[in-house]
Amino acid sequence: MRVVVGISGGIAAYKAALAIRELVKAGHDVHVVPTASALRFIGRPTLEALSRNPVTDEVFDDVAAVRHVALGQSADLIVILPATANTLAKLAHGLADDLLGTTVLASRAPLVIAPAMHTEMWEQPAVQANVRALAERGATIVGPVAGALTGADEGFGRMAEPADVVAAALEAAGRHSGALAGRSVVVSAGGTREPIDPVRFLGNRSSGAMGVALASAARAAGASVTLVGANLHVPVPSGVELVEVETTAQLREAMLERASADVVVMAAAVADYRVRGAVDEKRSKESWGEAPTIELELNPDILAELAGLPREGLLVGFGAETEADDDALVERGRAKLARKGADLLVLNRVGHDEGFGAVDTRVRVLDADGVVADASGQKASVARVIIECVAQRLASAGEEHQ
Ligand code: C5P
Repeated sequence: MRVVVGISGGIAAYKAALAIRELVKAGHDVHVVPTASALRFIGRPTLEALSRNPVTDEVFDDVAAVRHVALGQSADLIVILPATANTLAKLAHGLADDLLGTTVLASRAPLVIAPAMHTEMWEQPAVQANVRALAERGATIVGPVAGALTGADEGFGRMAEPADVVAAALEAAGRHSGALAGRSVVVSAGGTREPIDPVRFLGNRSSGAMGVALASAARAAGASVTLVGANLHVPVPSGVELVEVETTAQLREAMLERASADVVVMAAAVADYRVRGAVDEKRSKESWGEAPTIELELNPDILAELAGLPREGLLVGFGAETEADDDALVERGRAKLARKGADLLVLNRVGHDEGFGAVDTRVRVLDADGVVADASGQKASVARVIIECVAQRLASAGEEHQ
């Protein structure tokens, strides 16, 4: 993605370097447009070295390339950090007396702005009116936050952390033009727990990491995402709605309520059985005896139930298998896909050292015709591959409808 990073003249300008580095590291083509006063806070060589592209604040440099509009026209995303009170005012009124101003006006890309100034300035009605005007026109305003300011003072007005600004900017770009922009996605994640009594349960080793990575990848691709989380051991990404559940019955209800989403992913490790006769009072040795038995009864298969509903969206199931032989593993996956009636099945191998909680994983994505993707590595990158498969499938289903 081509990202324009605008920098205006506040002390937080030095932090823009971190944002540029992060964007370049993530593979984006970054073009920095500082204001003249930004260059008094941070040097051009730093910005050129980090962005790996030439940097100027001059409208009259490189005129033959019509730089004052070309940068804006070709940008997929513009992020301005820090935005001073002066720059906010200029942006709000459409001033174009420098390269940053012309670039913003020439662009139709999402605009993300991270203001930074002293508390008194931030609170001025004039500044607030400018921020409101920009937000109403669709700009994403990130921060400011409370914390240490330039002098000895502390308060509201500090620029949001560069990583948070980058995350918000990538999310805005995804919402605008991501492969799942405008789609709704529901992902179940984690492992359900089946109560024995109020303090004990039968559970499994799922951390929820894969489902959470999928929710995050879907969000980055522009979807509005709901995560139905069963006892998650990992943090929930920002911008994702969380519905917390504990038992299979609760997870089932949460998923059935949301079954009309464009994409439903059952990544949760759902307990196949629940305890028959779970009690509301804690069992004691006295009441349970010396060799108690726990009787189990079958839980409903939520994935199969979702597959049986009339639906227009895409249904994705998971299959965790301990099968060691590769061909046999895929064969089992195909049989499971057919049995459950999902559109796609993400197949992975699990064992005592594999799959659960581990950061690295290997999956095969199957449809009725066989393996459509094979991905390994960190769960975040594997999740991106799975979401690409989902997006492709939705896009080709859309074409068939036309
Ligand atoms: O049959 P198995 O448990 O291997 O199937 C795994 C897939 O089925 C996963 O997508 C899981 O979320 C889902 N599942 C379910 N309800 C169950 C058991 C599994 O939806 N009771």
